[in-house]
Amino acid sequence: MSERVLDIKGLHAGYDGVAVVRDLDLYVEGGEVVAFLGPNGAGKTTTLMAVSGMVQILDGSITVLGRAVPKLRQAHLLARWGVSHVPENRGILFQLSVEENLQLANRGGRTDVTPAIDYFPALGDLLKRQAGLLSGGEQQMLAIGRAILCKPKFLMIDEMSLGLAPVIYEELMPIVRRIADDTGAGVLLVEQHADLALAQSDRAYVLNHGDLVMQGTAEELIRDRHLLDATYLGGETLEEEPLR
Ligand SMILES: Nc1ncnc2c1ncn2[C@@H]1O[C@H](COP(=O)(O)OP(=O)(O)OP(=O)(O)O)[C@@H](O)[C@H]1O
Ligand SMILES: [Mg+2]
Repeated sequence: MSERVLDIKGLHAGYDGVAVVRDLDLYVEGGEVVAFLGPNGAGKTTTLMAVSGMVQILDGSITVLGRAVPKLRQAHLLARWGVSHVPENRGILFQLSVEENLQLANRGGRTDVTPAIDYFPALGDLLKRQAGLLSGGEQQMLAIGRAILCKPKFLMIDEMSLGLAPVIYEELMPIVRRIADDTGAGVLLVEQHADLALAQSDRAYVLNHGDLVMQGTAEELIRDRHLLDATYLGGETLEEEPLR
């Protein structure tokens, strides 16, 4: 049986003592890609930050790779435990080169950047380029590439497609699937593009205004797409224009 890399039970998390995510139960097993869907402001980023120890757990528990995340904020612990978190802003240092950003994956010594280039060959030609000069898609490759170099057992990616052209995120999404399949890492994938995420996911959760409103296998959610539209967008269909 695969290891449960994330187990959230009855989580209340938020800011200044006010919960914006309430009573959330969610788990991810090793090798699974789990989509975490929901409209703007639903609490998806807040949940990921609580898992990473950057937002306070007000109630409930978060267990990552068998260890309890402390209620007080302690972000440094998670990386040591084998968790990589690609945040909404991608966490890239723009002044540094692509190679230097990749090297940061291993603060203790030299990092072999080959695994990142295996998944994202385009990065191989860009190693000396300043990260701030990369396109949005290349930055996302760099962010995920760096996360892989940490050899995570659990990988969280927040809004991978944010600001990217469809052709780019359609290319990136299957790579995330491959990472889970090849390495056995569990992946929690926050996405606005429900269809695209579901196509590469095993299961999915839908959050709305801080409450879990749907969950199931990706197949079930695709089958109940009309229900997903109704919860997700208050009845509207999901057709949005990317920024670029
Ligand atoms: N630092 C903060 N202090 C206070 N409230 C916050 C803070 N960050 C987020 N919030 C609030 O918490 C709620 C959930 O926000 P969150 O960013 O988790 O949503 P999200 O699902 O990630 O949305 P999006 O899809 O827009 O990224 C929102 O009402 C937001 O305004
Ligand atoms: Mg967010």
